[in-house]
Amino acid sequence: MDVIHSVAALRLRLQSEPNNVFVPTMGNLHAAHIQLINIAKPRAACTVVSIFVNRLQFGPQEDFERYPRTLEADCAKLRDAGVDVVFAPDEREIYPEPQTYVLEPSDLQHILDGAVRPGHFRGVATVVLKLFNMVSPHSAIFGKKDYQQCLVLTNMVRQLALPIEIILAEIVRAEDGLALSSRNAYLSPAERREAPRLFQLLCRTREKIAAGVRDYQPIELDVMAALAHHGWKPDYVAVRRQSDLQVPQAGDLKLVVLGAARLGRARLIDNVEVNI
Ligand code: PAF
Repeated sequence: MDVIHSVAALRLRLQSEPNNVFVPTMGNLHAAHIQLINIAKPRAACTVVSIFVNRLQFGPQEDFERYPRTLEADCAKLRDAGVDVVFAPDEREIYPEPQTYVLEPSDLQHILDGAVRPGHFRGVATVVLKLFNMVSPHSAIFGKKDYQQCLVLTNMVRQLALPIEIILAEIVRAEDGLALSSRNAYLSPAERREAPRLFQLLCRTREKIAAGVRDYQPIELDVMAALAHHGWKPDYVAVRRQSDLQVPQAGDLKLVVLGAARLGRARLIDNVEVNI
């Protein structure tokens, strides 16, 4: 496994690997990332993983500074998982000058997570486009826990005609249902015991929709109230269409229930799809 820090060295290494599959990450790797790598590996001769904590997608009050950076442990896991190339650039390599050219996902960046985290999806789309230009993969894999991010990137690839297949991987959960996330590390032991409630409430909402409930707003408000009652600070709970994350219209059959809420120092997001 080669660990590469510069774009020039990456391009040189990948010259001989025209067939590569790409897993972009921010490091602090856990089982959900390894699942992405396991999906990636059979698809190409060369599996490339990037590790880069992207300042552009963090708000000024967010956790950019304290986001866990664990390169050595990450590389050990990636070596065990059979990754070929790790691209771990520093900030000057990705942003050698102020990034004045950015990508605006104007359809999605002001709703749900975009409303709570202004500029977040601009930062994600911009860095992923840059990473795609550096790696030139034929496919790239993202986890569905970041549902809105998946849609932003799928739309980006389609609208900009990038020759890259986007593959979406199912959410990996702990035994008690909590979606795996690097931010779970911020939870105290008591908060960790409380944390599966978000998934449980999203599942209960899915059951109500499957049982025929179509008035979504009261159930969204009920879930937010239940979270608040147990010490969470909910940002949103929303039933939306899978295709564009807009409010469902009569006859829409493919829905997703999304939730985001703060528990102690952690901001957790999760979602469950509902196919009526
Ligand atoms: O999902 C993530 O870890 C990040 O948003 C990504 C896609 C690596 C871009 O920084």
